[in-house]
Amino acid sequence: MSVRWPFGLRQGGMRSRLIFALDVSSITEAFSLVERLTAEVGMFKVGKQLFLHAGPQIVHGIRERGGEVFLDLKFHDIPRTVAKAAVETTRMGVRMFDVHASGSLEMMQRTVAEVSKVCRGEGLRRPKVLAVTVLTSLNRDDLKRVGVASGVENQVVRLARLAMQAKMDGVVASPQEIAPIRKDCGRGFLIVTPGVRLRGATWEDQKRVMTPEAAIRAGADYLVVGQPIRDAADPVAAAREMVAAMERGLSSPERRGRTSLDPAEP
Ligand code: C5P
Repeated sequence: MSVRWPFGLRQGGMRSRLIFALDVSSITEAFSLVERLTAEVGMFKVGKQLFLHAGPQIVHGIRERGGEVFLDLKFHDIPRTVAKAAVETTRMGVRMFDVHASGSLEMMQRTVAEVSKVCRGEGLRRPKVLAVTVLTSLNRDDLKRVGVASGVENQVVRLARLAMQAKMDGVVASPQEIAPIRKDCGRGFLIVTPGVRLRGATWEDQKRVMTPEAAIRAGADYLVVGQPIRDAADPVAAAREMVAAMERGLSSPERRGRTSLDPAEP
């Protein structure tokens, strides 16, 4: 009989919930990190810098090396353009990608519809489509300047709800937004969280970071971690330490009922 962690996740399952941000500008460095970390993390996040430097071959190269990809290009354009970009992203075989929720309900609905259609028509695996709500670099004053007076948290929750209405799979959210989103959007909605640091690491801005234990306890489904693994003397050991901390958060009783993923999913 297999040993199961509480709440449906298999032992060691948190490895699949760790996303390593591949924020480097060299293909050689990227592939070297992928080769070292494929067995340690669940996914590699490719952002604008690396994608514009290397092109789609970076996605294919990661997949050839056994890795999964979160393509973090944060699409925001008219609905038709984003939906077409999403179709090409899907054909690349990524596991996740994101769009800005502020691009509109229609933009998100059309994206989800076209992605589902191309997957059915071409027999492709359907990626998770995530919404970015309010960028973590924006504060209350930044929002006011663009005509949003309701404050960051209200705007985050409003956009998360809109993403849910559009049948998006989830959101990218900073640590302090996990709890209000989980409360408002329920369990069936993915929360992917950057801004995570191990206890004892240098915290540049204490308010904007959380430990992996706390983020998982609060209800995050996936954590995105870059610098603490990339700049570690031993990135493999750093990734393992992160997974161990996530597992401690998962086994906390406070976590009960807050996970979104089907137990069978990676
Ligand atoms: O800081 P770190 O390298 O761990 O960040 C991982 C990824 O998450 C980066 O790609 C970064 O752009 C993103 N990030 C974010 N919001 C934060 C912190 C990091 O979107 N507050």
